[in-house]
Amino acid sequence: MPLRQAALFVPQDIQQEHQQLSEYLRHLATKYYQDDAPEVTDDIYDQLYRRLLDLEEQFPFLKQQDSPSVHVGAEPKRSFSKIAHLAPMLSLDNAFSEEDIRTFLARLRRFLAPGTTFLPIEIVIEPKIDGSSVALRYKRGELVSAATRGNGTVGEDITRNVRTIRSIPQCVSKLVDEDLVEVRGEIFMSRKDFEALNASRLENGEAPFANTRNAAAGSLRQLDPAVTAERSLQFFAYALYPQMPSVSTQWDLLTHLQTLGFAVASVRELCTTEEDVFAHYKEILSCRAALEYDIDGIVLKVNRLDWQKRLGASSHAPRHSIAYKFPAERAVTRLVDIQIQVGRTGALTPVAILEPVALNGVIITRASLHNEDEIARKNLGIGDRVILQRAGDVIPQIIEVAVAAPQHTPYVFPTHCPSCGALSVRDAKEAVRRCPSGLSCPAQRLERLAHFVSKGAFDIEGLGRRSIRFLLKAGKITSPVDLFTLEEREKRDSNPIAQCDGWGQVSAEALFRSIAARRTITLDRFLFSLGIASVGAITARLLAEHYKTYATFRAETGSLEALQEDLAQISGIGPQTIADINAFLTCRENNALLDALAGSGIEGGPQGLVRVLAVERVAVETMSLFSGKTVVFTGKLEHTSRAEAKILAERLGARVGSAVTRATGYLVVGESPGNKYTQATVLNIPILHEKEWLKMAEEETTR
Ligand code: IVH
Repeated sequence: MPLRQAALFVPQDIQQEHQQLSEYLRHLATKYYQDDAPEVTDDIYDQLYRRLLDLEEQFPFLKQQDSPSVHVGAEPKRSFSKIAHLAPMLSLDNAFSEEDIRTFLARLRRFLAPGTTFLPIEIVIEPKIDGSSVALRYKRGELVSAATRGNGTVGEDITRNVRTIRSIPQCVSKLVDEDLVEVRGEIFMSRKDFEALNASRLENGEAPFANTRNAAAGSLRQLDPAVTAERSLQFFAYALYPQMPSVSTQWDLLTHLQTLGFAVASVRELCTTEEDVFAHYKEILSCRAALEYDIDGIVLKVNRLDWQKRLGASSHAPRHSIAYKFPAERAVTRLVDIQIQVGRTGALTPVAILEPVALNGVIITRASLHNEDEIARKNLGIGDRVILQRAGDVIPQIIEVAVAAPQHTPYVFPTHCPSCGALSVRDAKEAVRRCPSGLSCPAQRLERLAHFVSKGAFDIEGLGRRSIRFLLKAGKITSPVDLFTLEEREKRDSNPIAQCDGWGQVSAEALFRSIAARRTITLDRFLFSLGIASVGAITARLLAEHYKTYATFRAETGSLEALQEDLAQISGIGPQTIADINAFLTCRENNALLDALAGSGIEGGPQGLVRVLAVERVAVETMSLFSGKTVVFTGKLEHTSRAEAKILAERLGARVGSAVTRATGYLVVGESPGNKYTQATVLNIPILHEKEWLKMAEEETTR
């Protein structure tokens, strides 16, 4: 049949392909638009969508009412474009105690009038709205763009979504004489609207949002503005750029914003003394529940705008304002179970399964437990009621047992791997118990493959744990090498993936395409993908920067002595890492894996299935979660040396502090932490266990 000619008769295989393709596109659209969790790249989606349009052009009969081409309308826009902010959208420094506030006010005085101890500084208090900040640009009074905060320098263009928010004026008549004005503020969802939205989501079988902030952010980031329009979002303004000559204080600015037609928060106080600030903090904290919207603290702002200008800003926050946060909440719940997860290096990690409980507006069902010693130290037993705490945005932690179960039995850590049943081993120096079975343990095999294809490694789109599990179970793959021979082998397979349940030709081909797209990889990602113990994304980069090419890496890592000689000079790579690399490279199977994947590295020698590109020096991270923060370490680190951890932190733009103070950004704790742990808990400083820290640091580097 000539291509592009319309036909009434539709062959059965075409009908089948169209049906499968439609279902898959609908599934992808739901994942993308509603769950904010895309499963394939824009490119793959676009190709699939074009194939659907082609089929429907050839066979118009296929184009029924429910086809994604009809339903979604025009080819959907797959991502937001970017908007560069006129001035950086900064964050706020946090205060947690009266002492922090005194320090802040004293610093203001020192800055504005050095040498004086008494300088009346008027402070405006506003509630700290738990929403999403937005920058609205008005050109000659017309709303022309709206952007999220993004990374502070560049945000996402959410203009079309913001146009659906009723409390945001499209046109401000009083600004028609101004060329360009930016209004900043917070978009949020009221508690009432949040509850109604969640109720209807539950009714429709959709997952509820965890809190009002997520609901607001999720609703704003909809690619289809019609969805945003259905969600009741509101906006409170708090800043205006450039400053108006007629407005000289923050207090008047809020009134001015109202005159322009913007809503501002209903709570606002003007303070002249520290005591005023503390009294209003307590008052607002106590009436928090009566407000229609969620707040997580108050914001103190120097009232005089000329002083605000003089005070300026550090790289991440203005010096004229500070967030005075409400205390971290604690909650009591029941420890329902302790599950053991097997990681890619065989580490057995316990996870606490909890009776669901709300903490800082988030429903908590799990908490990390780190290792068996921690369980023993806290004397946890199934059925105990435990105290949970969540400081900052980190994983909640079990602080202690509140009420032990009537028949309290201390939890006994399993001696065997829950996946393969092998007797686990615990190195005397380590707190971790490990399954020794390596790749013959199903859980480790799955985790290693998942790591191999993950974002910072080979980054194979659409190959999630579910597909890997299927491929393993179907005997299609056993090691990473098999991924790159899969397509060829499939041609001769009597039971090809395309015919397996839940797959089909289209998904199978999409998978082959994503694998083929990753046959070339840079050395840093390649080394990271191997899953060598203690070689995370950062160490992999250091190694790649050192060896530069795969050939040099293979040639110069032949013995422990060679590794020591080379790597001991690299700050950031400690003896443990060197030992781990050596252990990996002295294993015959791993060498076979390297040979098969990337070749021997010898010129003229056998070639591998992938091409590894050389790496040049990689720039130090400048905009990470840790940049400008002080990180303090305590306790014995299991996965990295202190020196390595320090370098890692510095590469992420953090400073490393030796003591916990109010200025500490994060406390990273290893085994047997000291007093710093208690101090950080008291000061409400986010605490990261070593693994969480490594995970976050890795995510920051692979972002
Ligand atoms: S002033 C330089 N005022 O809190 C940033 N921010 O933790 C100046 N926020 O990104 C922001 N309520 O999204 C300011 N009344 C308020 C606020 C507020 C909520 C958010 C804002 C900011 C974040 C910092």
